[in-house]
Amino acid sequence: MNSIKHVAIIMDGNGRWGIKYKKSRNLGHKEGLKTVEKIIKATLKNKIKYLTLYAFSTENWKRPKKEINFLFNLLENFLLNKISDLIKQNIKLKIIGKKNFSSKLNKLLNLSEKKTIQNSKLQINLALNYGSKSEIISALNEIKKNKLKISESNISKNLYTKTIPDPDILIRTGNTKRLSNFLLWQLAYSEIFFEKKLWPDFIEKDYIRILNNFKKIKRNFGNI
Ligand code: FPP
Repeated sequence: MNSIKHVAIIMDGNGRWGIKYKKSRNLGHKEGLKTVEKIIKATLKNKIKYLTLYAFSTENWKRPKKEINFLFNLLENFLLNKISDLIKQNIKLKIIGKKNFSSKLNKLLNLSEKKTIQNSKLQINLALNYGSKSEIISALNEIKKNKLKISESNISKNLYTKTIPDPDILIRTGNTKRLSNFLLWQLAYSEIFFEKKLWPDFIEKDYIRILNNFKKIKRNFGNI
């Protein structure tokens, strides 16, 4: 049976859920945050070491300002209210993506990372202002600057995920089958699960079903 060290998730479908049930995309994001908390709990319970969540892509800046502000307010409140819980639960928070937000949010993100840096039960990588293509370009530029060889290992060593194993599993909810510029390098050999359910409807039982299905897959990594 395959062990699971790292799960990555594209949490898609908040907007559609919000429109369908509350006539507001933003209320879909609020509901989506409840799913985030449930999935963190289930990840801890299943002793998985790394959870990477796609919360805001470099392309999401194209959305209306009101929705962007709502999302970042939700994030701020989450960090302010939940950081002590994360510490208690031995969870380390790491932001992946370019931290070029307001100085207030940047400070809060840095502080949250600092406060949890020693924690070791679960590492949550929160992808914010994240784009995989720009991550790979930055890695190549770093390699060039240091006059190193372009190799798989040098590229991996210069990504945000340099210290952690690649995802075993990628889950995308929301009934859409695409990668949306998420972890393109790191997902080379991950098992991908596309879920019909919208993110706010995704429950622990769905997550466990995916984890169990993954455990049974024969992973060849190019071998036979
Ligand atoms: C994609 O759904 C979701 C996002 C762009 C935001 C994800 C945010 C959360 C789950 C809540 C906030 C999380 C934290 C950690 C504070 P979509 O809006 O693209 O949905 P749609 O495809 O139905 O429009």
